[in-house]
Amino acid sequence: MKYNLMYDYAEGAHPDILHALERTNFVQQLGYGDDFYCGEAAQIIKSLLENEDAEVHFVSGGTHANLIVLSSSLRPYESVIAASTGHISIHEAGAIESSGHKINEVFVPDGKLTREKIQEVIEVHTDEHCVIPKLVYISNATELGNIYNKNEIELLSEFCRSRGLLFYMDGARLGSSIMSAYQDLKMSDLCELLDAFYIGGTKNGALLGEAIVIVNNDLKRNFRHSIKQRGGLLAKGRVIGLQFSEMFRKGLFFELAAHANKMADLLAVGIAQKGYRFYTVPQTNMLFPVFREKEILKMEENYLFYRWKKLDADETVIRLVTSWATDEKMILKFINEL
Ligand SMILES: Cc1ncc(COP(=O)(O)O)c(C=O)c1O
Repeated sequence: MKYNLMYDYAEGAHPDILHALERTNFVQQLGYGDDFYCGEAAQIIKSLLENEDAEVHFVSGGTHANLIVLSSSLRPYESVIAASTGHISIHEAGAIESSGHKINEVFVPDGKLTREKIQEVIEVHTDEHCVIPKLVYISNATELGNIYNKNEIELLSEFCRSRGLLFYMDGARLGSSIMSAYQDLKMSDLCELLDAFYIGGTKNGALLGEAIVIVNNDLKRNFRHSIKQRGGLLAKGRVIGLQFSEMFRKGLFFELAAHANKMADLLAVGIAQKGYRFYTVPQTNMLFPVFREKEILKMEENYLFYRWKKLDADETVIRLVTSWATDEKMILKFINEL
């Protein structure tokens, strides 16, 4: 069987999570997120974020989290500014657009939005013939595996506030970003800087699930109605609450992200030592090396990975992703075979 380096959800869940699910299996609980575990997880997360006023809601996946937050935050004629590489821009089958909101896509070579690029969008939306750009979407880590550090987030946050824009962060890979050696942003900074965000569990060792955090009071109103209307209010919400309790009670979330990053680092060093270059600087658990066709064909014999972007007739950027469960031996084997 080929070894999967395509994404960080090829394995099931960390054993501690499975044990917790088994241990609590026969305990009766209230439905729809009113259970003990969701309450406990929300409390642990709020303590970690150092913000008791934040609201925490659990949903099953990232597209769902983005759709629910964005569609409930915007008036019908308001739009979202995102990088053209942003997950909502290209990998969510038009979910945001289907809710009636335009995405103002901005081209940024490294997938990271800047104040200048946001300003350009604002400047061409001048009157009632245009949509009103109202929310800035970023993901951290980005879809190109790099991160926004604290200063970059602070600058964007300040800019958004000065222009009356909401600032939202897709944290599908927040664990990997926070644990990156290049990162100085802390969990306790997030509520200061963002209006809403989510903490990704699916790609960091949970069976499934994301924790949406709403900071801005205006966005909290009837949020559970928005979740329900979009089909996200799970009768067995306990399944996600329990996993987040387990993840954050003793720091498992951070340990798992650190493992994924360590494996990616090992892989990046090995690939660089063989003389290959990277399309974006390796900073998290997603790497984008540039390989020639013959090397790709060779490595495809034993490994699964994405061909990300064709650069010319011979060179292609591929995407290699390590996970909370990646086996170090397989990383060393990959480097050897390369
Ligand atoms: C940055 C980002 N956001 C959102 C998602 C969507 O998650 P899901 O596939 O759970 O809907 C992904 C999935 O790869 C992602 O990478």
